[in-house]
Amino acid sequence: MSSRFDGKHCLVTGAAGGIGSSVAKQLANEGAKLTLVDLDMPALENLGEALRAETSISESHILLKAADVSKVSEVSAYIDASVENHGPIDCFHNNAAIEGPVSFIEEHSVEDFDRVVAVNIRGVWLGLKFAIPHFASKGGSIVITSSVAGTIGSPGQSAYVTSKTAVIGIMRTACLELAERNIRVNTVHPGMVDTGMARRIAQQTELGEDGFVDWVTATIPLRRYATPNDVSSMVCYLFSDEASYCNGSEFFVDGGIRVGNG
Ligand SMILES: NC(=O)c1ccc[n+]([C@@H]2O[C@H](COP(=O)([O-])OP(=O)(O)OC[C@H]3O[C@@H](n4cnc5c(N)ncnc54)[C@H](O)[C@@H]3O)[C@@H](O)[C@H]2O)c1
Repeated sequence: MSSRFDGKHCLVTGAAGGIGSSVAKQLANEGAKLTLVDLDMPALENLGEALRAETSISESHILLKAADVSKVSEVSAYIDASVENHGPIDCFHNNAAIEGPVSFIEEHSVEDFDRVVAVNIRGVWLGLKFAIPHFASKGGSIVITSSVAGTIGSPGQSAYVTSKTAVIGIMRTACLELAERNIRVNTVHPGMVDTGMARRIAQQTELGEDGFVDWVTATIPLRRYATPNDVSSMVCYLFSDEASYCNGSEFFVDGGIRVGNG
């Protein structure tokens, strides 16, 4: 039986994290050739093990690359290696990001602001810059992970909110530049997803991790966190031919939190 991503080269950054690894697993089960990129090589190796144990992917279809997405030479190197191993790129989940410390602007350090901007904006832009020349001639799909925080304010998260708003601008521009080549570009906007990032943010709030979970479940209309799978299903839909007319759009996976509280 054929799968949606049979033989397609799909590249995921931030692949060792909660959302990225869920996307990787879903793509692996649907026939993709994977380039998985993350700063954290041990976590990436654990993901490789999990893919071999839990999915139907063959060994030759897994490429793990350690890279800092904010560094030109490392981005250029992971893209070159990916194309050498798996050929032209069909799908790109431009997903790696950091949350940075939660603190009001007057207390936020310039260095922390610069690092969030470097990873979350520059990293996304660099990924596009080096990946675009290697897309398959028939076209493809790019999904950039923004956030609900990219469309509303969030006290204590000025750098993160700035970065997640900026990537919408990158998406809108790239979509216009690439439409003629049939490369679609969209953003996905998760709300609160049960991953390491959400837990780290919770720990920094005055509510603490447990209090934050109570607040989230009381505030989100669907009364629960998203699972990483809720988000990866949307990413894989946008990668698939079923989404062949989705371009330049923002796709929310947030349990209704934005319309309830934005
Ligand atoms: N978890 C949430 O509630 C939530 C909500 C909205 C948006 N998002 C977004 O979803 C995406 C994935 O987040 P997640 O929840 O899976 O977080 P996560 O922390 O579990 O995963 C992020 C991954 O990115 C990697 N990474 C960090 N800096 C990097 C760098 N410089 N180069 C390469 N890799 C780097 C980390 O090692 C980690 O594996 C991010 O863009 C995040 O902003 C998450």
